[in-house]
Amino acid sequence: MTSFILSADFPAARPRRNRRDEFSRRLVRENILTAHDLIYPVFVMEGKGVQEPVPSMPGVVRYSPDTLMKVAEECVALQIPVIALFPVIDAGLKTPDGIEAANPDGLIPRVVAQLKARFPELGVLTDVALDPYTSHGQDGVLDENGYVLNEPTVEILKRQALTQAQAGVDIVAPSDMMDGRIGAIREALEAQQHIYTRIMAYSAKYASAFYGPFRDAVGSAANLGKSNKFTYQMDPANRNEALREVAADIREGADMVMVKPGMPYLDVLRDVKNAFGMPTYAYQVSGEYAMIKAAAANGWLDHDKVMMESLLAFKRAGGDGVLTYFAIAAAKILKEQG
Ligand code: PBG
Repeated sequence: MTSFILSADFPAARPRRNRRDEFSRRLVRENILTAHDLIYPVFVMEGKGVQEPVPSMPGVVRYSPDTLMKVAEECVALQIPVIALFPVIDAGLKTPDGIEAANPDGLIPRVVAQLKARFPELGVLTDVALDPYTSHGQDGVLDENGYVLNEPTVEILKRQALTQAQAGVDIVAPSDMMDGRIGAIREALEAQQHIYTRIMAYSAKYASAFYGPFRDAVGSAANLGKSNKFTYQMDPANRNEALREVAADIREGADMVMVKPGMPYLDVLRDVKNAFGMPTYAYQVSGEYAMIKAAAANGWLDHDKVMMESLLAFKRAGGDGVLTYFAIAAAKILKEQG
């Protein structure tokens, strides 16, 4: 392993020697970002020809299924391996139990089937969580006090994941943080012969204020109002707990694990990679994206440079890849660079 202590014997040791020329900077470079590391999260809604801007996420739009197909084509051309789908559900379909999530004719299963038919080589990932479907914006079924009930929620999540698998999705990604959901979903998938459906578990998902713009994008912010997700998402103060969450998800059948948010949680990402050596992903969430966009729009930061640096940081911290709204923009730069 690396020794982190530099020699005190200057000038025998001059770290700047390796940094002096472009060739040796390239030669000693430890990490590299490629298009293969990127997962592109997109918002999908009903309609035709829709490209509706999300105000708190400049450059991000909500797509209807037809306009989404063009985005998928672009992902393939740019060698982005996976597209991740997040639904914007009509208010009329939202209920307290979010059961629309398990409708085989719902928006997401239809879009998955279309994508897999048109672009079989593009990996498709779907979020497993009820918040886009519930009238209260929470990720589960509530009791009379507004507390999210675990097992009744897992029952619906299981049905949601099965519906997505039946539609042909490659990866299901439970982002709900209910206990035991990975095991329940894995068992249900195996029982129905969906033995190759991968589970990317949002294992260490924190109750973060960085999700604000996402909740605008899927339209759950207003439903959620002033309530929070502290009884199921993790406390941002906790680090050991993340390792216990990841360990449980691996035992329950996760193929890949995730830490979310990204940049403020790089310590957790490194811990998880070191502890388990699993395929490990970070989610650079909506608020992280919005911060970079806002600073760049003000001329305070160089957009492209900060974007690429932020993505490389996930690799350095031990990530095998990153879910990022910058995926297309970053992949274009990577392609130009050859
Ligand atoms: C749904 C979900 C959320 C995000 C991904 N899946 C929001 C939340 O948990 O409130 C956030 C993604 C982002 O902020 O970019 N459970």
